[in-house]
Amino acid sequence: MERRPVSEQESRRANGPDWDRYADEYQATHGEFLGDAGFVWGPEGHTEDELRVLGDVDGRDVLEVGSGAGQCSRWVRLHGGRGIGLDLSHRQLQHSLRLDAETGVAVPSVRGTATALPFAAARFDIVFCSFGALQFISDIDVAVAEVARVLRPGGRFAFSITHPTRWMFPDDPGEPGLTATQSYWDRTPYVEIDDATGVVSYVEHHRTLGDWVRLLADREFRLVDLLEPQWPEHHDRVWGGWSRTRGMLTPGTAIFVAELAR
Ligand SMILES: C[S@@+](CC[C@H](N)C(=O)[O-])C[C@H]1O[C@@H](n2cnc3c(N)ncnc32)[C@H](O)[C@@H]1O
Repeated sequence: MERRPVSEQESRRANGPDWDRYADEYQATHGEFLGDAGFVWGPEGHTEDELRVLGDVDGRDVLEVGSGAGQCSRWVRLHGGRGIGLDLSHRQLQHSLRLDAETGVAVPSVRGTATALPFAAARFDIVFCSFGALQFISDIDVAVAEVARVLRPGGRFAFSITHPTRWMFPDDPGEPGLTATQSYWDRTPYVEIDDATGVVSYVEHHRTLGDWVRLLADREFRLVDLLEPQWPEHHDRVWGGWSRTRGMLTPGTAIFVAELAR
């Protein structure tokens, strides 16, 4: 692993195939926790039923960016919304088709990238990402502009990401993950390189809390909430760097809720 600048093209070329390779393991490991038609906002396990971040989805056009196997959009469909998924990974979308068949709740989904949404302007009432896409993108200003373009006036944009403060710490669920070792202000992406080929195989991008506020404001979004879900008292599930050990002391997830001011 290393930290170095990476372009949007390089990020996409790495992350699409990476998610294709990882999809089977991801769904096998986390599928039950997510629920086939469940809506979980992050490793802390808070659900949309509890948080009600999207507002009423009934009768609304709803786009999920980075939809994976479409669990959240299936929840939207069960609650009367016209949920549609978009994801970069072919294999993740195959899992979505599998869950469509298994649950009988189909989520129309398309393969694409968050920086070029294949939809007409003002097509949706709500766009959301549950740890989907945003932290894998270099051209994040383009992605936020795309969301603003496809939303109707007053439309809602809600997304969960790794809490920006987590970037100060090693991505370790244990005690070492509690000691700050790197600068919060260093936006240099996290990059993994394939040892055999020397090619970039995984990329994650970091923005500070202030960066996100500015990105939203620049596209005429009004921030209506920023949720920092607390680790639940009896929750003891480890997901990557998220754990009870760290979660009791530091926030692991940030959920931004914004609305178009126009
Ligand atoms: C952590 S998963 C989250 C998926 C789903 N929301 C869930 O909770 O399981 C992130 C997803 O973002 C997708 N993704 C990564 N980069 C993307 C991009 N540029 N555009 C669209 N989706 C992307 C990945 O393929 C992956 O399915």
